[in-house]
Amino acid sequence: MKSAPVVWAAMAAAGIVCLGFLPKESRAEEQRSQGKEIYLAQCAMCHGENGRGDGRAALDFRTRPTDLTDPELMTDSDGTLIRRILHAPRPMPKFKDLLEETERHELVTYLRTLSKTQVGVRR
Ligand code: HEC
Repeated sequence: MKSAPVVWAAMAAAGIVCLGFLPKESRAEEQRSQGKEIYLAQCAMCHGENGRGDGRAALDFRTRPTDLTDPELMTDSDGTLIRRILHAPRPMPKFKDLLEETERHELVTYLRTLSKTQVGVRR
């Protein structure tokens, strides 16, 4: 069994490579699902469960909530999107005081999944 050490070494190397990738993947997935919870709790009543701006609470607003599935909106960078959410005009709540830094990023990660069209993000 002369080749055994080589095989083990190869497996160990593969394991290290996998470990390098795994946490990153699951972190993204975790961010997305945290973001979804925030969205459903804080945004869906106005922007609608699917982000189309058709939430129940918004039925009698003069201004319709922005369609968050709009691919054009999603070409904004994360930073710009977060600024737009934090400084949106009324009747948007004052999210600047309501969302922690990590929650803002989780939210944006989720918002990007609402838009079905894959678009390039401007940085
Ligand atoms: C009380 C209802 C309400 C809630 C809750 C709400 N929105 Fe809005 N939102 C609106 C309305 C109405 C507009 C359109 C305002 C306008 O264009 O004058 C808007 C606009 C926006 C815009 C566009 C801002 C811009 O720059 O034009 C974004 C992005 C947005 N909302 C995201 C969110 C997110 C994310 C949440 C949850 C964290 C949320 N909204 C919660 C009603 C709401």
